[in-house]
Amino acid sequence: MVSVKSILLAAMATVVYGAPCQPTFVPTLPKTGGARELPSPPPSFTLKKIAVGHGIQNYTCVDTTSAPKADGAVAILYDVTKYAPGTPKTGIAKALWDRIPSALLLKPLTLNKLAGTKYGAHATAPFPKEEDLKLLGFPIAEYLGHHYFDISSTPMFDLNRVGLKASVTKLDNVDAPANADKGPLKTGAVAWLQLGDSGKGLSSGITQVYRVITAGGVGQKCDVAGVGVHSVPYTTFYWFF
Ligand SMILES: *[C@@H]1O[C@H](CO)[C@@H](O)[C@H](O)[C@H]1NC(C)=O
Repeated sequence: MVSVKSILLAAMATVVYGAPCQPTFVPTLPKTGGARELPSPPPSFTLKKIAVGHGIQNYTCVDTTSAPKADGAVAILYDVTKYAPGTPKTGIAKALWDRIPSALLLKPLTLNKLAGTKYGAHATAPFPKEEDLKLLGFPIAEYLGHHYFDISSTPMFDLNRVGLKASVTKLDNVDAPANADKGPLKTGAVAWLQLGDSGKGLSSGITQVYRVITAGGVGQKCDVAGVGVHSVPYTTFYWFF
């Protein structure tokens, strides 16, 4: 006959060995502090990666009096997941972490250039050799992937280093905080975004992407930039769920 004591012991063993050894640390998405915040990712979502992206936002000016119209982007993504503040052993201080996009924006763009432009990227081969990011004062961030707009102008995140992909559409946006880094052209920091799956069947392992702690990237006035396409450098964190 099975004793009450043995049943209790078995139950206790289940509790002890069934639980993870350490609670898994999950960083929380930053907030702008503005009147309205981006909706939080549903609790059922798993954070897959946090990247810092460095690239350009493109704009088209139809004439010198129109507003610049957003027209694609290209960026290189580096993996900073393990440095998120609070991460056991590898997490860095929050003040340092928050400065990563700004610090990166001071570095020259590593995209292959469009000849004759300061910030324009090569039209067909914008991405250089895949290299890790060495930013003075910060630990090395491994190369993670690329961000670009595909042939149908749909934003794509290809985290080729880890086999994740996100083809996205905008779900929501909020203005960057007033004190955000305005970038080298002093145009301002692009909005924070919540991006969801485009429904095109091109995503793999990612359901939502957030763009937070942006620096630079806002288009120049058309009377300054002139008619045609112009490119504005930006950096940001992308959180992949
Ligand atoms: C962005 O603009 C540059 C010119 O500044 C162009 O070479 C590049 O192809 C454009 N990229 C995208 C994704 O629109």
